Amino acid sequence: MTAGEDAMLRLEGVHTDIGRYRILHGVDLIARRGRVTMLLGRNGAGKTTTLRTIMGLWRARQGQIVFDGKSLAALETPHIARLGIAYVPENMGIFGKLTVRENMLLATAPRGFAQPNLDRVLDSFPMLKVKWDSAAGSLSGGQKQMLAIARAIIEPRRLLLIDEPTKGLSPAMVGQLVGALLRLKAEQTTILLVEQNFHVAEAVGDDFAVMDEGRIIHTGAMAALIADKALQHRLLGLSMAAAV
Ligand SMILES: Nc1ncnc2c1ncn2[C@@H]1O[C@H](COP(=O)(O)OP(=O)(O)OP(=O)(O)O)[C@@H](O)[C@H]1O
Ligand SMILES: [Mg+2]
Repeated sequence: MTAGEDAMLRLEGVHTDIGRYRILHGVDLIARRGRVTMLLGRNGAGKTTTLRTIMGLWRARQGQIVFDGKSLAALETPHIARLGIAYVPENMGIFGKLTVRENMLLATAPRGFAQPNLDRVLDSFPMLKVKWDSAAGSLSGGQKQMLAIARAIIEPRRLLLIDEPTKGLSPAMVGQLVGALLRLKAEQTTILLVEQNFHVAEAVGDDFAVMDEGRIIHTGAMAALIADKALQHRLLGLSMAAAV
C-alpha cells in the first residue's frame, strides 16, 4: 500500500522499555481504516507490549504513534481511550463479583446504556442476555472473552485493540468468537487483533504484520499469506505450526 493514507493508526520507529530492558526496537505498523489487521508472532515477540504502548500503558521512548492524524505520544491512557480506542487485554479485566450487567455499565458513559448500542451488542453476543444478572466470575473462559469484547464496543469505537481473544478456548467457543468478530468486521470496525490461532487469522484478517524480537519483520495482505505455505512456515514457523 502507499504512504498509509487510509491508516487509522500508524506506528513509526516505536521503541519501548520495560524497566531496564528495551522490548520494542523500532516498531513500524499500520492499521488501515475499516480493516482487520492481524498482529502475529511467537511468544515474547512484543505483541502485547505494542498494544499497551498504543494505549499509553507503557510509554514509547522514541518514535511516533498517530491515530487518525493525532499524535498519541504525550497523552495519558484515559485521554487515548476517549479518542475512541478500546483495548481488550489478554486477561480481559473482568470484575468477577459484579454481574454481567454491572461489568457492562462500568464501560458506558455516565448516562448509562444507550438502547441502540445495547441492542447491537446483545445481538452480537446473545449469551450475555441469558447471563445478564449472573456474576461475571461464573462465566466460562469464552463467555468472559465475549463480555470483555462486548464491554469494549458498548460505546461507539473507532479502533479496537484485542489481545489473543481465543487463547485457551474450545473449538466451539473459538467458532462463536470468530462469528462475533466477523460481525464487527462487517460493520467496518477498524481492529488490530493479536492472535496465535492461524484459523482465526485466516477467517477474519484483511492485513497482517508479523513481529519478532520487538520489530515488525513482515507485513502484507492476509490473502497472500494464506496462499503461501512456504511464507507461513518461514514467518510463523512453530508458533502456528499446528495450522500450517
Ligand atoms: N512487565 C514486564 N516486565 C519485564 N519484562 C516484560 C514485561 N512484560 C513483557 N516483558 C518482556 O517483553 C517481551 C515481550 O513481551 P510481550 O508480552 O509483549 O510478548 P507477546 O508477543 O505478547 O507474547 P505472548 O504471545 O506470549 O503473549 C518478553 O521478552 C517479555 O518477557
Ligand atoms: Mg501477549
